[in-house]
Amino acid sequence: MGGGLYNQIILETLIPESLPGVSLFMKHGTNYTLYKGPDLPFTERDKQRLVNGQIEYLFVFSSDLSDYNLYVESNLSELLENEDFSLGKRQEILCQASVSYVQEIFDAPAMNIKSNLDRCKSLIKHILSDHFSPHQLMSTLGSLVSHNSYTYVHSVQVSSYMTALYKLRNTEDEILMDVGIGGIFHDYGKVYVPQMILDKPDKLTSSEFEEIKGHPKLGHDALDQLGILNPIALDIVRHHHEKFNGTGYPDGLTEISRYAKIASIADVYSALTTNRSYRQALTKEVALDIMSDQMKGSFDTYYLSMFSAMLE
Ligand SMILES: [Fe+2]
Repeated sequence: MGGGLYNQIILETLIPESLPGVSLFMKHGTNYTLYKGPDLPFTERDKQRLVNGQIEYLFVFSSDLSDYNLYVESNLSELLENEDFSLGKRQEILCQASVSYVQEIFDAPAMNIKSNLDRCKSLIKHILSDHFSPHQLMSTLGSLVSHNSYTYVHSVQVSSYMTALYKLRNTEDEILMDVGIGGIFHDYGKVYVPQMILDKPDKLTSSEFEEIKGHPKLGHDALDQLGILNPIALDIVRHHHEKFNGTGYPDGLTEISRYAKIASIADVYSALTTNRSYRQALTKEVALDIMSDQMKGSFDTYYLSMFSAMLE
């Protein structure tokens, strides 16, 4: 589930003299040119020149993404509290860090996830902070889709919607964290589905659809075997495609946990309101209408109306 050879990074995340040894690239049209090799320092003067040249983004090679992500995450509190940056810029930094992190866990061997869970928790804590409204975070995340694989952005979006919705009625911090982690990992099973099927712009054949439908159970079983997620997060991974009327998959449940109910609402809403190769993003109003009319019976109406009210 690769995210491309070059990954866009935000210039403001680069703190002069502290950058690890990664190569930085600039984009000219469709070409990438080397701006700085891994052994050269990145100085205050370099940064100022780029800012003066109205450069907002640079690029790092995929093989350097992991080092860059760790670098941003270790400076994230400082970056997010830096009042020299606009709130919009800080939001963008947080969203980009979260999406890059998800890209890393989806692309890395499964056994590495275990050591990365603390990073996941720390990002969710920032997402939950009162600095940012879910509304603003979502529009920032939506704008990242063109530069990142949809699944990574979608995972962060689902996690953010779920925690925002859960937080309205419940304040147990520990459970909130599990809900957030469940949201990040809900589509993990898609790493086992061929990319060609996931990206197919045309209607899926029934066997392709069956293959996609395998992802909740595959994700659940893989993560369960690793023994890193607790039952709430695992429940979200396995049951986010269950429907309130019992016609969902993989288990056709009629009794669904509140976590999975919230997950299915966040999942469908995020999908409908995001640009995809086969259709434009729907507006909030149209998406909510479809969910309550055409998809009647899919969702718990109590949580769906709470979700609609949250988006007012
Ligand atoms: Fe899914």
